[in-house]
Amino acid sequence: MTEDLSDQASILVMLKMRLAEENNWLDFASFMHHALFDGTYGYYMRDTYKFGSRGDFITAPEISDLFGRTVARQCAQILKMTGGSILELGGGSGVLGADILCELDRIDCTLNEYLLFEPSAALTERQKDRIARLTPKIRSKVRWVSELPQNFNGVILANEVFDALPVHVLSLNADGWQERGVAVENEFLSWQDRPIEDQSLYQAIDGLDLDAPYVTEVCLAANGLVNDLSSSLNFGAILAFDYGYERSNYYHPDRREGTLSCHYQHKVDYDPLEQPGDKDITAHVDFTRLAHAAHDANLEVAGYVNQADFLVNCGITNILESFDPNHLDTYLPAASAAQKLLSPSVMGDMFKVISLTRGINEPLFGFSHRDRRHML
Ligand SMILES: C[S@@+](CC[C@H](N)C(=O)[O-])C[C@H]1O[C@@H](n2cnc3c(N)ncnc32)[C@H](O)[C@@H]1O
Repeated sequence: MTEDLSDQASILVMLKMRLAEENNWLDFASFMHHALFDGTYGYYMRDTYKFGSRGDFITAPEISDLFGRTVARQCAQILKMTGGSILELGGGSGVLGADILCELDRIDCTLNEYLLFEPSAALTERQKDRIARLTPKIRSKVRWVSELPQNFNGVILANEVFDALPVHVLSLNADGWQERGVAVENEFLSWQDRPIEDQSLYQAIDGLDLDAPYVTEVCLAANGLVNDLSSSLNFGAILAFDYGYERSNYYHPDRREGTLSCHYQHKVDYDPLEQPGDKDITAHVDFTRLAHAAHDANLEVAGYVNQADFLVNCGITNILESFDPNHLDTYLPAASAAQKLLSPSVMGDMFKVISLTRGINEPLFGFSHRDRRHML
């Protein structure tokens, strides 16, 4: 408890120093970057439990290996065309990598390497512990990289990575659009609006028909990441899984308070200025932005579906059928996990999957039914 308090006090001192250096105003993207990725106090950099029941939130691969096993089927189809490797961004606890590797081994799919690109040293250690539990043959394929590889052939995976990228916050009031940043007022962190200076933020909201008051987010960092991945990819596909919407739904007149949320010990709150560093801060993903960034970077948007459709298209129900319903101890957890991954009221519809490809001509079977690229 004492340690938590001192960490919280220390991150506040660090943030106040940053604010003092910047004339007492930080755009929210910079604030979020410090709160999540400060080398010492950032949420993702600290060695605390984040995923699963002991942590703050649960992601699809943490629910069940059904997710990773099904994603592996899509990877296998791509790897048959491209050869090469899998590169996973932000591998979390390492469970998705472990599940995919085991499934590819089971179905005899050839893979050169499984690369993990993870900015957090603490999470890299968790991933190493998880991968160490695999057989020597399987774990020998795994390597951690500190930079994106060049001329990469194969599959790039990002599960819940884009939602962790820092976002700018914009606010529409009676005076028009302003940028919402963070300042110190009476010793406390507080929101403060300023005129927008960055032209790309103006472009993001240009043409939107919205009434004040309205608060929303713009993730310029998503363009940077899509560009970096495009520079890395020679032949293959990027598969990004995340919660989010297309532009018309993201900037919907009813979504007046934006999509920023914080997660701490499985509770959600909407105040990122309170206890920064202790909790995850996230914003939904604007998939239209990813599609446009991909187009600008000469990638093809090869498919866009919700998570349920992707998993069903890739054969999750066939994998489920391989569980014997007479063995309730294994069948019931698998059936319950499938329900969480597929149900529209849990993860099935809120999460989307987008595929950005280079050099791939065959349709990817994860996107074979109910593709909704027309909505982007
Ligand atoms: C919400 S967690 C998801 C973890 C894991 N993929 C899962 O689904 O359980 C976000 C992950 O993305 C990583 N991350 C954040 N920004 C990143 C970036 N620019 N490149 C690669 N990974 C990043 C974080 O360190 C963390 O591992």
